[in-house]
Amino acid sequence: MVIKTAALVANDNNNNNNDMVVTPWEVKGKVDYDKLIKEFGTQPLTSELLNRVGAHTGKLHLQLERKIFFSHRDLDTVLDLYDKGTKFVLYTGRGPSGPVHIGHLVPWMFTLHLQQKFKTRLYFQITDDEKYLVNDERDLGETSKWSYENALDLIALGFKPEDTFIIYNTKDIDLLYDISLKVAKRITYSTARSSFGFQDSTNIGWVYWPALQAAPCFIHKKLTGENVPALIPAAIDQDPYWRVTRDVAQKLGYCKPAQIHCRFLPGLGTNGKMSASMPETSIFTIDQPDDVKKKIWGAFTGGKPTAAEQRKTGANPAICSIFQYYHYLFEEDLSKLKEREHKCITGEMLCGECKKDIAEKLNKFLEAHRERREKAKDTIEQYHIKR
Ligand code: TYM
Repeated sequence: MVIKTAALVANDNNNNNNDMVVTPWEVKGKVDYDKLIKEFGTQPLTSELLNRVGAHTGKLHLQLERKIFFSHRDLDTVLDLYDKGTKFVLYTGRGPSGPVHIGHLVPWMFTLHLQQKFKTRLYFQITDDEKYLVNDERDLGETSKWSYENALDLIALGFKPEDTFIIYNTKDIDLLYDISLKVAKRITYSTARSSFGFQDSTNIGWVYWPALQAAPCFIHKKLTGENVPALIPAAIDQDPYWRVTRDVAQKLGYCKPAQIHCRFLPGLGTNGKMSASMPETSIFTIDQPDDVKKKIWGAFTGGKPTAAEQRKTGANPAICSIFQYYHYLFEEDLSKLKEREHKCITGEMLCGECKKDIAEKLNKFLEAHRERREKAKDTIEQYHIKR
């Protein structure tokens, strides 16, 4: 198996389908997270570090307990500072290319947990400019529409306007531009090309663009005068941005941004993350109950060809997309998760039952989410940064 960083992908036209590709714009193949830690040069989340987080949060969040968040950069430094009385801010975001899917909610729910436990601000960047630049077909009107729609999903999760600041890139460019200039001036084209895989045919907007994703790492100082680190919870695909940002942060008089990386919630097919570009294997927050049932019904599982065979030899939850849903989000009780796993392995529970249960859980969650999403329309303005 070959790991493809952005640069490797860009230079390799003979890409084999089974090879792992992890870039901010593409994730495919079977993702090997241990190899990513080595390749990206991040640190594994150790039990010692988890204990340090737990000392502040009480019971560990299930995404930490289950190692869904598995890697970091400088989380220890952020905790050292916090213990000495220096707060941090949280920063995460969304590229509004279409509706939000359940995979996006994984880092956002965890961010909400951190915000509530550590009582910190969140800066949430919505990158309508990025999604415009990276796709030839999309126009700015479309990405702006999705910016609004996606912000509703964020708010529906329970973030409060007092300490949540949504940055819409094209509307709020006045807040980002000077910071992005300072960042851009210190990143050479050669570094950008090797970090992001730019080619001769890449448009120059896209080449500049990483400086804009870097900017919110430092916006807190501009808004408040406080120079504190940003901690970024996100899936590991976003890491190339932070590598280049971390290199320039101290030269610009800022703290290095820290990261905590999660795995990808898989799609409902055989391989790869849940991705908006594959709608048939993704569950979107705006999917209606019948669509959810249909998608779940067609999902790839670890089941056997016949019920009789499965009752006899059991199934394989480790490769089952449905089991991952329980594991990542929808079974908070670890003993119940283990019981489900056991019943699957021993053939006591068949895929049909498991699918029916998850479709019900998902639809219950989505119905409540959509109600909160509707209410968010009344408060969305309160999250916009005031000048
Ligand atoms: P985007 O819109 O691709 O993804 C939004 C967030 O969701 C994470 N993610 C997933 N997490 C778990 N399972 C999945 N299947 C899955 N798919 C996506 C992404 O890692 C991301 O955290 N350029 C960014 C927007 C952005 C941003 C940021 C993201 C701007 N500033 C700061 C994170 C942190 C983007 O297009 O994300």
